[in-house]
Amino acid sequence: MEITTAQVFSGLAGQDPDVLFSALPTPCYVIDEKQLERNGTCLAELAKRTGCKVLLAQKAFSNFDFYPLLDGCLAGTEASGLYEARLGKEEMGGREVHVFCAAYREDSFEELLDYADHIVFNSPGQLRRFGTKAKQRGKSVGLRINPECSTQEGHGIYDPCAPGSRLGTTRELWDREMTEELVGFLDGLHFHTLCEQNADDLARTLEAVEKRFGEFLPRMKWLNMGGGHHITKVGYDLACLEKTIAYAQNTWGVEVYLEPGEAVALNAGYLVSRVLDVIENGAVPIAILDASAACHMPDVLEMPYQPPVYCADADPARGYPYRLAGPTCLAGDVIGDYSFPRRLKGGDMVLFGDMAIYTTCKNNTFNGMPLPDIWKLDKEKQLVRLTQFGYEDFKRRLGKGI
Ligand SMILES: Cc1ncc(COP(=O)(O)O)c(C=O)c1O
Repeated sequence: MEITTAQVFSGLAGQDPDVLFSALPTPCYVIDEKQLERNGTCLAELAKRTGCKVLLAQKAFSNFDFYPLLDGCLAGTEASGLYEARLGKEEMGGREVHVFCAAYREDSFEELLDYADHIVFNSPGQLRRFGTKAKQRGKSVGLRINPECSTQEGHGIYDPCAPGSRLGTTRELWDREMTEELVGFLDGLHFHTLCEQNADDLARTLEAVEKRFGEFLPRMKWLNMGGGHHITKVGYDLACLEKTIAYAQNTWGVEVYLEPGEAVALNAGYLVSRVLDVIENGAVPIAILDASAACHMPDVLEMPYQPPVYCADADPARGYPYRLAGPTCLAGDVIGDYSFPRRLKGGDMVLFGDMAIYTTCKNNTFNGMPLPDIWKLDKEKQLVRLTQFGYEDFKRRLGKGI
């Protein structure tokens, strides 16, 4: 399911970013409305064909200016905490708000219930502590299960099924702690085990869910299959996904939810940056950009992965090789090695693709780096500024200034 650089930048429809983005102050993010709509339509059609409900996992993308556009395509939002839940309620409020958190706080649980329609607990202990309150407020209550079925390679920190995981209730824990009264609280079960994966891995996971928890599913109203489904990616096996959804619906009579984050905003954003300097130390010249991996695309270091760059090849042997790096003091603020069709010099634009997800909601101001502004590229290819950040945004997070 490898995707080409041309596919990543297909939203530009052949327009030269040097011209299209020439006036933008860098670094900045640009969210591509047309690409977002394309993803939204794909998910809406899936929901229509299968009868499943698709939610936006806001942890990946929470640029709420686009929620009206997504509102027509999705059944609601999924939140990981209080503020995301409030944002979903405020900005896509006519739709469902689902919340999952590894552990809820006593002091904000009532407020959380003001926003949530579905509330998913991570453990029998949490269900015991908060289940009655949630039920009394008329919420649909779920428990996250851990089917103990690892299907990922390479990204250990993204595998909730890894041995010793804190995410989800294993069958062993269920047997130890789930009393009949606690099971009676449950309207649904939730699992999230995938990360950028295809539907065959979901099908395998569902087999493990059935093996370990199948006996409880006929008592449930819904089954939430989490996120990590790369549904909108070229080559994704939609037929297998649809078969898997139908299997759950027909076998247990449950309503099926999916809560993708990445798939909603896949390839729907760019990070526009410029070269500040080129320095030599060894075989590969290093282009220092005004964008930082550590601050502006943290998953590049955390996951880690190498983001696609417009008109550049990830194979440094195919042109003029450069190591792209950020301006911070972190020695490892390195984005990756690429080759360009021409030599790079100060002021040249470097355009990163697939930058709508896990960026604007995850960036930081380490080293006093400015937060990049966020722009919209609308369907008419007009650029509209959505946010503007400055020194005050950096300072406000650090103190009161007595
Ligand atoms: C519980 C849950 N749901 C949904 C998601 C969204 O995953 P993705 O953005 O990979 O689709 C995540 C991601 O970590 C998650 O933990």
